[in-house]
Amino acid sequence: MKKISKNTKETGEIAKIFLEKILKTSAKQKGALVVALSGDLGAGKTAFTQAVGKHLGLKDKIKSPTFVIFKKYKIKSKKYKFLYHFDAYRLKNEKELLHLGWEEIIGNKEHIVFIEWPENVSGVIPSNARYIYISHKEKGHRSLELK
Ligand SMILES: Nc1ncnc2c1ncn2[C@@H]1O[C@H](COP(=O)(O)OP(=O)(O)OP(=O)(O)O)[C@@H](O)[C@H]1O
Ligand SMILES: [Mg+2]
Repeated sequence: MKKISKNTKETGEIAKIFLEKILKTSAKQKGALVVALSGDLGAGKTAFTQAVGKHLGLKDKIKSPTFVIFKKYKIKSKKYKFLYHFDAYRLKNEKELLHLGWEEIIGNKEHIVFIEWPENVSGVIPSNARYIYISHKEKGHRSLELK
């Protein structure tokens, strides 16, 4: 599924559509539902995750976890209790992520996990992860593709 977004408001609408699609098509997860967000610097990965948080009933706005690597949020969803937002931008490899308890986090089926810069830690992204590719288009628009 591929959509063009003109602004963060439209990204919010697209996030809702993608989220519903992901939740519908990932019915039988063993562990966490992992969503990898790929895209250049400033493409809109955090904006997308903020919109997801809003749709999942988060009162506080998600802030970029660049310096802390990840943040955990309690969410109101039938299936998932916590949303994890990872930013692997500063990570050179999988090691640090594993030290942060990655395996345990993605092993829990009550977790929905969004990770920016999955390329930096590709070795530990589960094979059943969903991928969203975000890229810059002309006039500041963004292309968002769910694979
Ligand atoms: N669809 C959009 N249209 C226009 N501007 C957008 C869109 N999505 C995000 N932006 C803006 O682009 C800027 C960067 O967005 P964001 O921080 O979400 O990018 P990112 O992919 O998370 O970047 P990074 O790789 O640095 O983490 C923000 O100012 C945001 O408001
Ligand atoms: Mg970001």
